[in-house]
Amino acid sequence: MLNKEEIKERIIRLKKKHSAIIIAHNYQHSDIQEVADFVGDSLEISQKAAQTDAEVIVVCGVRFMAESASILSPHKKVLIPDKDADCPLADMITPEELKRMKERYPQAVVVCYVNTSADVKAESDICCTSANADKVVESLRDKSEIIFVPDKHLAHYVSLKTKRKLIDWNGYCPVHIAITPEDVLKRKKEHPQAKVIVHPECVGKVIELADGVFSTSGLAKYARESDAQEIIVGTENGFLYRLEKENPEKRFYPASELAICPGMKKITLSKVLWSLENMQYEVKIPQEIVQRAKQAVDRMLEIR
Ligand code: 13P
Ligand code: SF4
Repeated sequence: MLNKEEIKERIIRLKKKHSAIIIAHNYQHSDIQEVADFVGDSLEISQKAAQTDAEVIVVCGVRFMAESASILSPHKKVLIPDKDADCPLADMITPEELKRMKERYPQAVVVCYVNTSADVKAESDICCTSANADKVVESLRDKSEIIFVPDKHLAHYVSLKTKRKLIDWNGYCPVHIAITPEDVLKRKKEHPQAKVIVHPECVGKVIELADGVFSTSGLAKYARESDAQEIIVGTENGFLYRLEKENPEKRFYPASELAICPGMKKITLSKVLWSLENMQYEVKIPQEIVQRAKQAVDRMLEIR
């Protein structure tokens, strides 16, 4: 059996051989972050996929992230090392459900969170991520009705920030709603000097307790730039690896030990090697869906 270093060496050799790039989400296992060419949030992953010259893109994240890369680079081979790396939030709305919603609100413009399937993006007018959801909604100031799917907690947060009423959907991230206000208060009691930063997929009562609410890379920026020496983190716990690596002098505490995303954790270093050896699993989205979904993602990327 190969040890971790041998697996990494093989991955690096295969990357060169196939002109491949590995893009990893901030929640990935630490050994995958170490071997990745780029680690970031959903917006950065999309931007990287749109810009890269590589012929093969291995996405270490959940399926919608690999689909977004494929939508933006339709002529490249996009691989995901485990085809069952699902995001339950993304699966909480189907294109049929969104179509019915559009029939109910025929005047509404549709904003879909990037955590959706390609089919749902194809039914949407514009996509957003947690890093730009407020800017996307603000860009729609001439629209009287806005449907925002599928995350109702993100919709609530964006609605407060932009002062726009949004027509939401009953979707949520099971990982982030596991973080309770009681968890945060308990941690604050244990670490009274600590600042609290959380992801906007958290419930409103947790967001009310936070000093900062950002996408994962926004949280990383806050951690780097803040004077705080101790920070309580309300998001998926794999993210603490990056925070600790970038800020060895600071202390980070997970708001809840339960915040672990099973879909993200399905990607392992051995599966990344297998993926490059076998050029599997290739993300394949019907051309007609790619074209329509790409419009929604491109519109988002035009917003600065
Ligand atoms: P970010 O885009 O903030 O990295 O979030 C993705 C995600 O799935 C959060 O649960
Ligand atoms: Fe989906 Fe939540 Fe996992 Fe993010 S943390 S990928 S929203 S299940």
